[in-house]
Amino acid sequence: MLTRSFLAPEENAKLLAYTPMFHARLFEETAKYRDAHFQATKEPIEPIEPNVTDPAARSLYLDGNPKFDRPLLVQFCANDPEHLLRAAQLAAPYCDAVDLNLGCPQGIARKGHYGAFLQEDQELIFKLINTLHKNLPIPVTAKIRILDSKEETLAYAKNVLGAGASILTVHGRRREQKGHLTGVADWGYIRYLRENLPKDTVIFANGNILQHGDIERCLEATGADAVMSAEGNLSDPAIFAKPPPVGQESREYWQGRDGKGGYRLDAIFRRYMDILHKYVLEQEPPQRRPLFVVGDDETWLHDTGSRDGDHEEGPVRKKVKHDGGAKRSTSPNISAIRPHLFHLLRHFISKHTDIRDILAKTNPSDVAGIEKVLDLVERRIARGLIDYERTDGKSMEEGESVSKLKKGQTAEIANGDEVKIESKTEPEGDAKEGEVDPEFDPESSVATVKACKRPWWIAQPIIRPLPKEALAKGSIKMSKKEKKKQEQAQAQTQVQAAAVPPTTATSTTTTTEVETKEKGANGQTEQLENQLPKSDKKNGVQEPPLNPTAPGLTTDQLVCG
Ligand SMILES: Cc1cc2nc3c(=O)[nH]c(=O)nc-3n(C[C@H](O)[C@H](O)[C@H](O)COP(=O)(O)O)c2cc1C
Repeated sequence: MLTRSFLAPEENAKLLAYTPMFHARLFEETAKYRDAHFQATKEPIEPIEPNVTDPAARSLYLDGNPKFDRPLLVQFCANDPEHLLRAAQLAAPYCDAVDLNLGCPQGIARKGHYGAFLQEDQELIFKLINTLHKNLPIPVTAKIRILDSKEETLAYAKNVLGAGASILTVHGRRREQKGHLTGVADWGYIRYLRENLPKDTVIFANGNILQHGDIERCLEATGADAVMSAEGNLSDPAIFAKPPPVGQESREYWQGRDGKGGYRLDAIFRRYMDILHKYVLEQEPPQRRPLFVVGDDETWLHDTGSRDGDHEEGPVRKKVKHDGGAKRSTSPNISAIRPHLFHLLRHFISKHTDIRDILAKTNPSDVAGIEKVLDLVERRIARGLIDYERTDGKSMEEGESVSKLKKGQTAEIANGDEVKIESKTEPEGDAKEGEVDPEFDPESSVATVKACKRPWWIAQPIIRPLPKEALAKGSIKMSKKEKKKQEQAQAQTQVQAAAVPPTTATSTTTTTEVETKEKGANGQTEQLENQLPKSDKKNGVQEPPLNPTAPGLTTDQLVCG
């Protein structure tokens, strides 16, 4: 809804929203799990009784509500066609299609045998999709990751489409490309699918969408029908909106002296809160003063009466409790507030760590507490804007210019509610003779950081270090065999580099044998395939037990794709 709020009606009609990935068996079997993750009606959703044909007969609530949350795709992970079908049937009255996520690369998916760990079982994939295709009143779609070669990926895509998937979303990364090994998505694979699948195949491209401009670049490079964005959209919910024409910016959109602009975080935060008030809490949002721009009356900035003055002056010294006795809410919209805000405010809070600490300690059920965080953010941004004008833009040039960034300042990685600041490893200063200038090095994120960097009050993407940078930093290390393989591949890649290079992201590295430092304590490199759960030959692969009431199956714990 927040993303939609930035779009004109005709643009909105082209935007599909996906739910987070739900575990099909839990969704089917456990009412508590369904209620905690999907709120289509005010009462818990149950199988539609035979005499109730119109789901609207139940009072509709949030998810999939035709008034503001359509088109919506409900996404599942699954490894059993019957469970998947029953789960999909429960969701079907409230959405436009059901998506099967075959892209989740996380350990939990490996243990549970779903997501990208079904790749080796193309027969099961066919059955899962085909069962929905034959029995569901709405379309089934699927999301895959690429395989080792273009030809294998094409065969995989054909299987998925042959089973009845109406839309094929392709994440241009392999299963191994996660965490420090995420790297850059390979749009060349998506282009290959476009050129080798029937013309009427609907393909969505996923990966490398960091900014609005990447959407057009991706569509052009891949020939896809649409792009899917996850992290870019979380960091900048206005990513799908065309920037306003120069000179016609509203207060919400800021334009820098260097011509680079973007939506202000306080503006987005306000919109988010207003949606929560209106739709989740079903109450009027608070009256807000016009969003501050330089030249406005500044007296409110000195007025401490309406806010908690302790916080404005610097880091909190004592544990601040903002919850006012608020109970923890089970609403998914409430429990998602902090992860959403940490993602949105990532660059802001890495500078204003006092506000990060307050946010971390605020119970999300305490909406008044979250409003106080908004107030602090607004005040800090107002001061940032005033300083920028007062110094003729120098306040940002001196403090934040990308070319002056030191090692260890840029890349930030989220881990649930905690914010870890990871170091970035580009060499400082100009490249020496014989070295690749990081700005032009396809295995360096420097150029991407430079293209995306905005002042801390503007929504902007999180740029993760590329594998080479993580290797240099020592976060991961490479086996000898892999090292050799990579050297050979590198020589080959350089020759092929002219293919379809995206502007903000350029190359990809296959890293099947790179081990993470944490896992590699015994120095052994484990082949990923060896880690796949084994079939007991009688009942197939058994899923470990899951606690349906534990939160997290849709949060960062289950980071998927
Ligand atoms: C925190 C997080 C949660 C994710 N959850 C899902 C998910 O539930 N379903 C899914 O298909 N992909 C999920 N993904 C993966 C993204 O959809 C996407 O494939 C991947 O992040 C690359 O695209 P992006 O650059 O647009 O983020 C998740 C990614 C992140 C970072």
